[in-house]
Amino acid sequence: MDFDLIVVGSGPGGYHAAIRAAQLGLNVACVEKGDVGGVCLNVGCIPTKALLHVGAELRGAKSAKEFGIDFGEPKVDLGGIEAWKQKVVGKQTNGVKMLFRGNKVTLIEGEGRFTGPNEIEVAGEKHTARSFIVATGSRPASIPGFELEEGRIIDSTGALTIGDEVPKRFLVIGAGAIGLEFADVYHSLGSEVTVVELLDQIAGAADADAAKELRKALEKRGITILTSTKVLGQKKGKKGTEVEIERDGKKETLVADRVLVAVGRRPNGHGLGLEAAGVEVDERGFVKVVNDHMQTNVPHIYAIGDVARAPLLAHKAMKEGLAAAEHAAGKPTAYDTVVPSVIYTDPELASVGMTEEEAKAAGYEVRVGRFPLLASGRASTLGVDSGVIKLVGDAKTDLLLGFHMVGPNAGDIVSEAALAIEMGATLEDIALTQHPHPTISEGVMEAAEHAHGRAIHIANRRR
Ligand code: NAI
Repeated sequence: MDFDLIVVGSGPGGYHAAIRAAQLGLNVACVEKGDVGGVCLNVGCIPTKALLHVGAELRGAKSAKEFGIDFGEPKVDLGGIEAWKQKVVGKQTNGVKMLFRGNKVTLIEGEGRFTGPNEIEVAGEKHTARSFIVATGSRPASIPGFELEEGRIIDSTGALTIGDEVPKRFLVIGAGAIGLEFADVYHSLGSEVTVVELLDQIAGAADADAAKELRKALEKRGITILTSTKVLGQKKGKKGTEVEIERDGKKETLVADRVLVAVGRRPNGHGLGLEAAGVEVDERGFVKVVNDHMQTNVPHIYAIGDVARAPLLAHKAMKEGLAAAEHAAGKPTAYDTVVPSVIYTDPELASVGMTEEEAKAAGYEVRVGRFPLLASGRASTLGVDSGVIKLVGDAKTDLLLGFHMVGPNAGDIVSEAALAIEMGATLEDIALTQHPHPTISEGVMEAAEHAHGRAIHIANRRR
């Protein structure tokens, strides 16, 4: 065998797996057909967050008048924004290449295709290995009738390039994480933004209260959100792209300069020759994993990340990658951890564990604690007067089951709740833990107090 392990794909899942396996002494190669770092580093998590930061700074400069500072009207240099985004991406992807070199992971550039259970062909050359980890990720889903056309109908990759001018009217189809984050970016840059969503709530998987709170905040910023709305089709009109929609049984036409299709992602399990290796792939393109070691039906071939199963999140892929790599190196590791999720809009929405609805459906007697950030001193100092922290607990055992937050730094604060769930913390543990004052995070402690009818800064339910 040429290698102990070949990882196919160098996104967050793949590069974590490759590095961990190398740390454990395996001779590892990683096959990559595109840019090292995959979607997340090149056209996903990292560049979007760079653009969201630009948007936040721009809005911050404009709203500073409220605090007694007038910077004047900010001048936006789209070339400068593009250069900044590229610089951030370059730093991250070069970092991964350096880590590969440092850990002696061989990078094989080109498209990999399995030619047998222990063999993969890349750019005409065959490479053999004892084990494989398939980490080929996912790609944007499409809607019939909305075929991509540069600058007019775009997907998340297209939306990362703003181009020569900011579109006046930006229409987003799909109010998931991608749709909402780009709605935020383009609205910050000055577009009139409309988001069209099929379901009756935005951020579909989120706790209903948190989703409502986020919607309220985005609408307050001036983003138009149309839920329970179907898109029927589009055509090029004189004044822009005419998108026909249907809501409440009525048809309407929306006109936009740019339309972003953000209706989910599809796993990249087909076209890898996995049939030659005997690995099962379902019709949607998910490579079937049969256990929490992330093994497929062919035990020495693992699958991790978006190509293996939902949720399609980078940090979930990383943990699955570590589990697969360690198992391939002979350790008994299994993947078993709660998965936090974050939508990086302003305000952020973050959650981990069960929603209130899920906990009830699972048969728990639920005890909920809430802390509205309106009552937070730290939120006041930041000029924030909305947002909420909601804890879902088990009334019988007091264990924390779920955390849902809309507000500043929610994406960082959620880690406290993830750890609490992993450690089996009760609401009382959280309430008794000193949180520094003044911080947004002390709202977590107070939400736990509220669950027990003992909050200080807000009214408690009668016990
Ligand atoms: P998504 O599945 O989260 O949301 C897509 C939305 O589009 C859903 O609410 C769905 O109801 C709606 N939709 C579907 N068809 C529609 C139609 N014809 N008309 C109107 N609405 C329609 O997918 P999204 O936002 O594209 O993200 C893809 C994946 O990437 C997700 O799994 C997401 O979790 C992940 N992601 C996560 C990020 C984060 O954690 N911050 C950022 C970006 C992506």
